[in-house]
Amino acid sequence: MISNLPDRIFLSGFMGAGKSTIGRELAGKLERTFLDLDDYIEHKAGKSISEIFEEGGEDAFRKIERECILELIRTYEGIIALGGGSLHNQHMLDHIKLNGLLVFIETPISVILDRIDKDLNRPLLLNEEGKVKERETLERELSALYKKRLPLYQQSELTVSDDGEKTLETLVEQLTNKI
Ligand code: S3P
Repeated sequence: MISNLPDRIFLSGFMGAGKSTIGRELAGKLERTFLDLDDYIEHKAGKSISEIFEEGGEDAFRKIERECILELIRTYEGIIALGGGSLHNQHMLDHIKLNGLLVFIETPISVILDRIDKDLNRPLLLNEEGKVKERETLERELSALYKKRLPLYQQSELTVSDDGEKTLETLVEQLTNKI
């Protein structure tokens, strides 16, 4: 096992940035375990993310998400892929940074839009009928959300930029070199 690594490496970034894919690969390379926060939330709640949103709205989801992050900080060491909205407030962001290395996977919104089209397990992308919103609507809404969240993501200690052209191997190599 590689020594001198932080106890936890948190991967942040917008939906579709590749946090989980990169995290899994990074964990293999660093010989650490990997955990996807959304999977952990589903496991803890015994429900899918969509069901949590349907039953209690975004507030209920954020509450479970916050509890899971706090629990993981107490009980888990390794690589954690956060959700796109996990850094929802400054207090949480500061707490995460105190307890590990926070990395921002920076991906242009145009690349993100191409990737997340048609994903039914991301409630923020769905309309009232449960269908994925029109591309134009998504573009407008997600661009606004990204702009709002960017100042939070940018407080990460490390940034790896993905223009959509880099291979997974290159991204992980660049990230490993910075850790
Ligand atoms: C969310 C992102 C999702 C998931 C939930 C809310 C967000 O995670 O946590 O649907 O607020 O951006 P991914 O970033 O893994 O898609």
